[in-house]
This record gives sequence, structure tokens and C-alpha cells, in this order.
Amino acid sequence: MSLQKVTINDIIGKKKKGEKIVTITSYDYSLAKIVDNSGIDLILVGDTLSMVMLGYKNTLSVTMDEMIHHTKAVSRGVSNALLVGDMPFLSYKINLTDAVKNAGRFIQEGGAEAVKVEGGTEICPTIKAMINADIQVMGHIGLTPQAIYEFGGYLVQGKTIEAAKKLILDAKNLEESGVFSIVLEGIPWQIAKIITSSVDVPTIGIGAGVYCDGQILVIHDMLGIFTEFKPKFVKYFGNIGESIRHALNNYKDEVINGIYPDREHSYEFPEQELNKINEWIENVDVCKEAHKLT
Ligand code: KIV
Repeated sequence: MSLQKVTINDIIGKKKKGEKIVTITSYDYSLAKIVDNSGIDLILVGDTLSMVMLGYKNTLSVTMDEMIHHTKAVSRGVSNALLVGDMPFLSYKINLTDAVKNAGRFIQEGGAEAVKVEGGTEICPTIKAMINADIQVMGHIGLTPQAIYEFGGYLVQGKTIEAAKKLILDAKNLEESGVFSIVLEGIPWQIAKIITSSVDVPTIGIGAGVYCDGQILVIHDMLGIFTEFKPKFVKYFGNIGESIRHALNNYKDEVINGIYPDREHSYEFPEQELNKINEWIENVDVCKEAHKLT
């Protein structure tokens, strides 16, 4: 498949044309390359890296350096999709200077083309500061996992009239600040539908129903690799975890039973030369010969 480089204008243009935007997370070179070749529009190096790659219990533990390390790896495998780096906990909410510097690291060191930040109206000044520094920004509202302790857990947001109104206003303010798209996570589909029709920038849903302009999933969730818990919105589109377990069992059996590696997977020494080695080994003291080399 010959693919074209996706730009932010393409992402915005898709909403205008009524075309769905397909996005997913990636955290390493090899998987990112497969994702990129499959025509996915946007790849997010999500802070879910913390859980699915590094084994932390939530997304709050991952650091800027770890995010940059993985963004660099992903960027080496991506030539078509728009690459977005996810700003980790505390990297953009302490002060504007650090926020812009940290966002800049994703672009300059990581090779990302934009960053994503979690939060509503309260982070609009931060978004504007980043955009003033020529850094493109994706918003993220609803069940923002960096705020789980504030929410009291992974709880669906926007379930009351007041909370839903706040989400709609947050989306409008994010748009006004200049974000090029907004992730809507863990909110009722009806509220996501209203938000999607009230903003001109694309909404990307995760647990926000079918009326968003696009969707995103954590790749380890949708492939059945990360199975420690399964939110309602996660659908397994493959069972790679099971395939890996199956492959490892086959490998183990073949090694134990001397089946692998067979001749097909081994290197050959010329048969006629081999006799000379066998003769030599019978006629010399190998220990002495080896010692001479030291
Ligand atoms: O960190 C992440 O993977 C995300 C997406 C799931 C939206 O923020």
C-alpha cells in the first residue's frame, strides 16, 4: 500500500469531509512500523506506556525521559502517520516555562509533530503558550487518567447535567485555545455527540461512543496483550497475547526435543575441510594450543 504523510491539516480536513479518523497508541519501533504501514492516521505515544510497557500500576509514574526515549523509538518506525507525544503527569502543570520546554523536547528530541495534554479550561493558558512556541497541541477531556485520584478511580465522567455542561464548555475553550483535535475519554456517547457537533476540530473518542470524529485505543488492549483489566469500551480485535503464548510453548518444546534449530536454520561448514579439523583435533593438545594464544 502506498501511503501519504498525514498532516494536522489532513486530520482537520477529515472532519470537514465526514471521514472517520483512525488512531492508536504505539511505544516501540517494531510495532510502530506495522501500525504506520497499515494506514492508521495518527499514532500517539501515550503515557499508558507507564502501564502496558513499564508495568506501573497507573499512568502517573512515567517520566519525561522515559516518554522521550519511547517517542524516539516510535519516530524511527513512522513515516506516514501523524506522530503525537503524550505529556506525562506534572510535565506541564507546574509552570508555563517548563510546560513549553517539555513539550519542545517531544518535538526536538522525540521526533513527534505534536503533543497531547489532559485537562479543560484551566490549561488553556498552557496550550496557548505551547502554540505560541509553534508546538501543535491535542486536548484530552473526560476521564483523564492523570486525575484518577481526584475522580476517585477510573469513573465515567460527564454523567450529571452540570458535569456534562462543563465538558461541553471545556471543549469549546480548548478549541478556542487552538488545539487541533480533542480526545474524549470515558464519557456518555450522547455528550460526546453534542461536543462533536459543537466544535470544528475533530474529536477522538475512547469510551465515548460512535459519534466522535475518530477513535483511539491502546494497542496492547485491542490486541489482547494487556489483559490485567478490560474497560467496557475495549474490544479485542486480535488475540496476540494468546499467539505469543502459543509460539513460546512451541519454541520450548522444539528446543527441549532437539527439533530446533534444524539444518535449515543452521550454518554449514564445507564437508571436505571438516576432515582437516577433525584430524588436527586428534593430533594436538588443544589446551596447549589455546594457551599459546594468550
Ligand atoms: O495514554 C494514552 O494512551 C492515552 C490514550 C488512550 C488517549 O491518553
